[in-house]
Amino acid sequence: MPKPFKPSVTLTDNDVTDESIYFNRRTLLKSMGFIGASTLLANSASAAGWFGDDKEDTPSRTQPLDFTQPAKYQIEETRTPQHKVTTYNNFYEFGTSKDAPAKRASEFQTTPWTLTVDGMVKNPITLDHNALTTRFPLEERIYRLRCVEAWSMVIPWVGFELASLIKQADPLMSAKYVAFETLYDPKQMPGQRNRFTGGGIDYPYVEGLRLDEAMHPLTLLSVGLYGKTLPPQNGAPIRLVVPWKYGFKSIKSIVRITLTDKQPPTTWNRLASNEYGFYANVNPKVSHPRWSQASERRITSGGLLTRNRIATQMFNGYDEVAPLYANMDLTRFY
Ligand code: MTE
Repeated sequence: MPKPFKPSVTLTDNDVTDESIYFNRRTLLKSMGFIGASTLLANSASAAGWFGDDKEDTPSRTQPLDFTQPAKYQIEETRTPQHKVTTYNNFYEFGTSKDAPAKRASEFQTTPWTLTVDGMVKNPITLDHNALTTRFPLEERIYRLRCVEAWSMVIPWVGFELASLIKQADPLMSAKYVAFETLYDPKQMPGQRNRFTGGGIDYPYVEGLRLDEAMHPLTLLSVGLYGKTLPPQNGAPIRLVVPWKYGFKSIKSIVRITLTDKQPPTTWNRLASNEYGFYANVNPKVSHPRWSQASERRITSGGLLTRNRIATQMFNGYDEVAPLYANMDLTRFY
C-alpha cells in the first residue's frame, strides 16, 4: 500500500474557531479597508444563509419520507436549523471547505444505487435504491452530532437501526467487526480526482465499527433528515450515524458493508493515527493533539455574536454505551 500522503487539509485550528470570531474579524478587516465590497458580496449569500434563521431551506431534490415508527430517542435540545445542517458539511469527496458539498454535490446521481452486505455472513444482501427506504420501517431519531473539530449540531435523522440489516445478513460466529465503504466515482466526486482538492485522502472513504457497536440500538443507518430524503451533501442515499462517536465515523453515501474478523482500516486513522483513533468515542478528557475536546460550539440559530459554547459530554451524552468499553483504557483506545 502506498505510504499515506500527508493531508493537505487536516482539521486545523481554523476549523475550531467560532464563526462569530471569524465574521467579526472580517468586519474589522473591512472597516480597515482590507476587504473590498466584491469579496464581501461573494460571501454575503452564505452569511445570509447562516444567520437568517427564518429561511426554510428545503433542497429541491429531497422527497418526503414515511416514518411511522415511534421514535425511541429524542432530546430536548434546540435543533440546528435545517439550512445549517445542509450547508455546513464535511464531505471531502466534494471539496474540503464547509460550503463546497452543498454547491458541488447538487448534481450527484444516487439512482441507480446498490448497497451490498457481504463478508462473514450466511446471507449476503443487496439493496437497491428503493429498498433503502422501504425494506425496514423508518423512524425519526433526534441526535447530537459532535464533530472532532469541536462543533456540534442537533439533527432529526430518519432511518433504521443498522442492527436490523446485519441481523438479516446473519453474521457468522467468527465475525467481529463491520467495515463500511463510500461510493468511489471520481466522475461524480471531484475530490476523488485530485489528492489536493480531496484533502489527501486515499479514496474510497472507509470506516469501521466493532460488531457490538454496530449492533447497538443507537447506531443508525440514515436515509433522511428533517422528514425528507437525505440531500447529497449529507450523504445521500444512505449514511451511518453513530451519535456517541466523532462525526468522521458517520460515513456517507455507503455502497458496501462487510463483516470481518479483523479491525478494518479507517480513513482518518490511516491519514494521521496519532490524531484520529479507530474508536473515536466523544471524550472531553482526551484532547486532540492540537486542541481541547472539553467544549464545543453548538450550531443553533445564533446570530453574529452568539457563541453557544457548551461543555462536551462523555460519549456525547449517550451514557448507555459505556458498558461497551468496560475495562478499556479510553486514553489508549481513543
Ligand atoms: N463520509 C465521507 N464519505 N466523506 C467525508 O468527508 N466526513 C465525515 C462524516 N462522513 C465525511 C464522511 C465528517 S468529518 C463529519 S463531521 C460528518 O460526516 C459530517 O456530516 P454532515 O456533513 O452531514 O454534518
